[in-house]
Amino acid sequence: MSKRMGFKEDFLWGGAVAANQVEGAYDVDGKGLSVQDVTPDGAMGRITDGPTEDNLKLQAIDFYHHYKEDIALFAEMGYKVFRTSIAWSRIFPNGDDEEPNEAGLQFYDDVFDECLKYGIEPLVTLSHYETPLHLSEKYDGWKDRRMIGFFEKYARTVFNRYKDKVKYWLTFNEINSVLHMPFISGGIKTPKEELSDQELYQAVHHELVASASVTKIAHEINPEFQVGCMVLAMPTYPISSNPEDVLAAKDAENTNYAFTDIHVRGQYPGHLLRFFAENDIAIQFAEGDAELLKNHTVDFISFSYYMSVAAAAHPEEYSSGAGNVIGGIENPHLEKSEWGWAIDPVGLRIVLNDFYDRYQVPLFIVENGLGAKDQLIQNENGQYTVEDDYRIDYMQQHLAQAKEAVKDGVDLMGYTAWGCIDLVSASTAQMSKRYGFIYVDRNDDGSGSFNRYKKKSFNWYKKVIETNGENL
Ligand code: BG6
Repeated sequence: MSKRMGFKEDFLWGGAVAANQVEGAYDVDGKGLSVQDVTPDGAMGRITDGPTEDNLKLQAIDFYHHYKEDIALFAEMGYKVFRTSIAWSRIFPNGDDEEPNEAGLQFYDDVFDECLKYGIEPLVTLSHYETPLHLSEKYDGWKDRRMIGFFEKYARTVFNRYKDKVKYWLTFNEINSVLHMPFISGGIKTPKEELSDQELYQAVHHELVASASVTKIAHEINPEFQVGCMVLAMPTYPISSNPEDVLAAKDAENTNYAFTDIHVRGQYPGHLLRFFAENDIAIQFAEGDAELLKNHTVDFISFSYYMSVAAAAHPEEYSSGAGNVIGGIENPHLEKSEWGWAIDPVGLRIVLNDFYDRYQVPLFIVENGLGAKDQLIQNENGQYTVEDDYRIDYMQQHLAQAKEAVKDGVDLMGYTAWGCIDLVSASTAQMSKRYGFIYVDRNDDGSGSFNRYKKKSFNWYKKVIETNGENL
């Protein structure tokens, strides 16, 4: 048996975005409002009564009208895959409508056709922090079991429509984040402080059942479909070798792993059942839920990876890590990004190995990258660009660790760099937190030409893809 020493031949290289962070056109061609249209300050910020002018996402980078130009640039980099999401409220403006909105469906036909023209496979997230606002206001989002039916109808509609265009699907973006940001992630309007664990975990259950149910529907519609779950991966290290700290880290990881446990093993893990028992949480299972979870598990695990954290038995004795939604304490061994996110390439190797050891299913890194401030300059030929060596360094180091994990035996399907074109940040709703290989001229105050410019990292990534990651 020969050992794999690099990325597989058909490795899916590409980039990732989410509809709400790039498309703009928030009320165009029949689109309804989503939770993003009322959160101008980002994931944890205020919720406004309606769309407000200071909300950059309303226009974002206007991918809605620039997708041809943008996809051509992705093709120039050699992408094999492009991850985006479908804005649910373009298809069902209210979420509980009888009929879908044809103009919304047509838009994604056009986007996917444009990808396929260049041999780029679309990788599509069904729900990326974009719950239709009406579902949030009328049903309190995923707290209500009726959401499962609305989501099934939406998923069935897009699976049927794009069954010959899209093969790779993800159900919920970072499904584990609903515990931390119930509104943006789960459309739950009740403020987090007022939600009981019972309500929160019941909402989680609804999402998990919905995820299994649409996985079933997907496979019925096209047995070739590959359906993945998507989780926010966050290795948690013990702050010391004190067994109590080690246990604290394990507990934190278990809470996070519960989501993949259920998606892959098809049942709730023991530690979560214990947590329920000790906290008087009784999850209401409807008839058939347990069978759905058991029999319709995912084909692969996809995840985002940006950073790791540390944990301690007595966290109050340490300073807490900034910037991440899951929380944890600061790791003194790691440098941080301008937004306080710990930079930990080795953590990517660790998390890849952990996932693979635990489940032995294919893995897909569908988000990774560095949010940083960029400076647009003119080079000697008069062209605008950004000398983003810091971004190249970050990605180079992370990809090197991903390659190590492949050598360790991990089955890795692909890598899509987050925010491959600059977009509006999810946590802070800023434009200035840039991730892209392509600079978009738009500023935090909303000004800008929306012109696109290639950064230095554009050519670097092109080479990486050309050499299938041999040349990092
Ligand atoms: C993930 C989300 O949490 O991280 C993305 O799936 C988000 O939507 C990305 O953009 C980076 O976070 P941020 O807050 O820097 O945009």
